[in-house]
Amino acid sequence: MKRILVSGAAGYIGGTFTYQALKSGHEVIGVDNFSNSSEKNIKYFKKKFKNNFYFHKSDLSKENNALKKIFENYEIDYVVHFAGLKSVAESEKQPKLYWENNLNSTRNILENLTNRIGLVFSSSATVYGNSKYQPISEKIALRANSTYGSTKIACELMIDDYCRNKNIKAICLRYFNPVGSHSDKVILEPFNNAPNNLMPRIVRVAKGIDPELKVFGKDYNTIDGTAERDYIHISDLISGHFAALNKLNEITDCKYYNLGTGNSTSVLKLLKTFEKVHSLSLNYSFHSRRKGDVEVCFADPALAKKELNWSSKKSLEDMCRDSL
Ligand code: NAD
Ligand code: WQD
Repeated sequence: MKRILVSGAAGYIGGTFTYQALKSGHEVIGVDNFSNSSEKNIKYFKKKFKNNFYFHKSDLSKENNALKKIFENYEIDYVVHFAGLKSVAESEKQPKLYWENNLNSTRNILENLTNRIGLVFSSSATVYGNSKYQPISEKIALRANSTYGSTKIACELMIDDYCRNKNIKAICLRYFNPVGSHSDKVILEPFNNAPNNLMPRIVRVAKGIDPELKVFGKDYNTIDGTAERDYIHISDLISGHFAALNKLNEITDCKYYNLGTGNSTSVLKLLKTFEKVHSLSLNYSFHSRRKGDVEVCFADPALAKKELNWSSKKSLEDMCRDSL
């Protein structure tokens, strides 16, 4: 049993991690300010895991004293830092909010770490921007396309600096495109909050909330003209975090790993697979490319396989099945 501080525990990925950690018998101290979530998941955890779940409502970018107290009151083994704002479009409209929220939260956590507490940080494939190298390995130069992406690069740099200067250890996990839900169907990817991402938009059409899916771009240099991504099942993504926690016991510095499947899937392939799995037909129409979108983005997951002994297991069919 380990004691894990989970920031962003009320959210989609942090909530799914929290659920799996609690189910596996770990103690979780969750923190969230509900800026992009509700209390629903937290209420569920409090009820179901009375003996091993604790929660503190706090804005990590501001309330450093509250965080300090949490570190004083609980002997924490690991911090898994999911909390952050994640909308590309919003980050372009409100860059100050993104810089303050994402950087200050990460700095406040780093300030409280000691060399016996390992950190796992939620980074993103967005740090690679529009890479001409595909599949993408961790070695390529980072270059973001958005303020959101820049904050992820800056957080990674900050973490690396603190690791060198404070003798702490950390792993930055660069997620590709997480979709679906844990097989217990406790936490679903939200589809009611005007999502920009493809899978929740497909779910909205399947549920009859939206009349059709707008497919952005049909003139990409890809298998069927639509953009390609590396979709990864949330359960595989979460198992990558537990692999990273194990790895933290062996390292003394900062490491970076892609969490992706290594498969490149077009918008139309995802749509068609979803239709097949759920035996339904979805309306869609083609539109011009979405501003800022990259043509193709998929992972080289070899380093995570070699050093974390982790690889994805779930198929595209599993991802579609577990999204509705
Ligand atoms: P989410 O919005 O569902 O969860 C993030 C949680 O952090 C929310 O509950 C929000 O209220 C909380 N939060 C934000 N700022 C906070 C602050 N200052 N103090 C306390 N709580 C705060 O997002 P998610 O999809 O679960 O993403 C989790 C992490 O993974 C984020 O850092 C995100 O950038 C990263 N990521 C997500 C994806 C994706 O496609 N979902 C891809 C790559 C990386
Ligand atoms: C995938 C493809 C769209 C919606 C974004 C962020 C990235 C990351 C994950 C966090 C694109 C197309 C989408 C729709 C469509 N998150 N699409 N119709 O673009 O890889 O990344 O989310 O770090 O930072 O940029 O994922 O799911 O938004 O889009 O045709 O209604 O689906 O144009 O080609 P993306 P996505």
